[in-house]
Amino acid sequence: MKIAVVGTGYVGLVTGTCLADLGNEVVCVDIDEEKIKSLNKGIIPIYEPGLDGLVANNKKAGRLEFTSDLKKSIKECGVVFICVGTPPKENGEADLSYVENVARAIAEAMDSYKVIVEKSTVPVETGEKVARTIRAYNVHKADFDVVSNPEFLREGSAVNDFMHPDRVVIGCENERSRNVMKELYSPLNAPIIFTDIKSAEIIKHASNSFLAAKISFINAIANICELAGADIEKVSEGMGFDKRIGRSFLNAGIGYGGSCFPKDVDAFVRIAEKFGYDFRLLKAVQEINNAQRDNFMKKIEKALWVVKGKTIGVLGLAFKPNTDDMRLAPSIDIISQLQKEGAKIKAYDPEAMQKAGQIFNGITYCNSPYEAAAGSDALVILTEWKEFKELDLKRIKPLMKHPLIIDGRNIYNPEEMRKEGFVYISIGRKEVL
Ligand code: UDX
Ligand code: UDX
Repeated sequence: MKIAVVGTGYVGLVTGTCLADLGNEVVCVDIDEEKIKSLNKGIIPIYEPGLDGLVANNKKAGRLEFTSDLKKSIKECGVVFICVGTPPKENGEADLSYVENVARAIAEAMDSYKVIVEKSTVPVETGEKVARTIRAYNVHKADFDVVSNPEFLREGSAVNDFMHPDRVVIGCENERSRNVMKELYSPLNAPIIFTDIKSAEIIKHASNSFLAAKISFINAIANICELAGADIEKVSEGMGFDKRIGRSFLNAGIGYGGSCFPKDVDAFVRIAEKFGYDFRLLKAVQEINNAQRDNFMKKIEKALWVVKGKTIGVLGLAFKPNTDDMRLAPSIDIISQLQKEGAKIKAYDPEAMQKAGQIFNGITYCNSPYEAAAGSDALVILTEWKEFKELDLKRIKPLMKHPLIIDGRNIYNPEEMRKEGFVYISIGRKEVL
């Protein structure tokens, strides 16, 4: 099949590349000409494991190309994926102006039947609005169908998530578009859930909100564990073995970040409000998530007593491991607050330091976790990179001014930390003093 993927961000680039790898001819389109130039030179603008090799292979095989010529791409392709950003507006609603612009451009260019697929996360009823926009600007009176096919790609494992999904959700409203989508996804051998468009749109917001709720739930339980002197890791394990609950997304920490959960939860609260429903449960999910960062700051302040003038080594800047993405990373709030209180920050992240450089001022970036630890009054762990779990703690301890580790991701065993002689403060577990 010939496919155009509009928007080559985290989602569009992975989607386009994987569709090419399944044997389709894919053209990835982006308004950002610099990005297209780089991609054509083989430079991948994001860090996503496995993606660079897949892009190179499919380019070489002639199945994948990059362009900023939207008009030509639309004319040549039968299926068009919309993967442009849907960033939050100030009131929490999704800004759909990029989606509208692309819908209009598709309508003006198309001169034969197209299946137009919304891949970006959008509020329910966007499918209808996209169809209305396309009808309004459909100068060649071409046939078309709109389909909703939400993405469930976790950064850091997006290629694997595309190739081995738990399910593919397709919201479509006639046989013609259903057959096209069925053919497209049949090589994956994954369960396909066909629904109407509105239900597919809600599946996306409901899934991300449910996962966010799981995280806030376990963070709330972590707070109770701290007060009661219990151990959140044991509690998560004990709960997670129940198949109805499941162990994943039960890791307590410094709260969820990234370009999806915070924005999608906010957007879903607003969507519900517009329909006249007060989604109090999700509002509590947001509140708990925000409070989790403040709780972590309090732990740092309590452990250091005076923050002003202290040197703090920070391990991990990205919002999660295996990505360089800094969008709404908890590290932004935590580091900014520490700087405001007069701390000196030495930071290390295996992939995100370049992007972090565009956000923070006055941070010393280090070449290794050991360099970040050297001369620090405390080491603060904000992202659970595998590399940090495997640190040589015997080497770290003498490098630090004080052997104090405040761990926002619970990557070490408190008993072992005691044996190694660290003061170790983590989430939802007893402090090792
Ligand atoms: C996208 C969606 O924004 C989000 O709703 C969904 O939940 C995840 O996927 P992402 O791929 O991370 O997010 O977005 P981003 O990295 O911002 O990439 C969007 C791309 O679209 C950019 O490269 C941008 O240049 C491009 N774009 C934007 C266009 O090509 N045309 C436009 O009109 C606007
Ligand atoms: C999410 C969705 O999972 C994915 O399906 C798609 O819709 C895009 O958005 P992503 O944001 O890339 O993926 O990462 P995810 O693994 O979901 O983590 C999101 C945030 O939750 C991270 O900040 C992570 O640290 C946090 N998290 C995750 C926890 O705090 N605890 C957990 O147990 C799991």
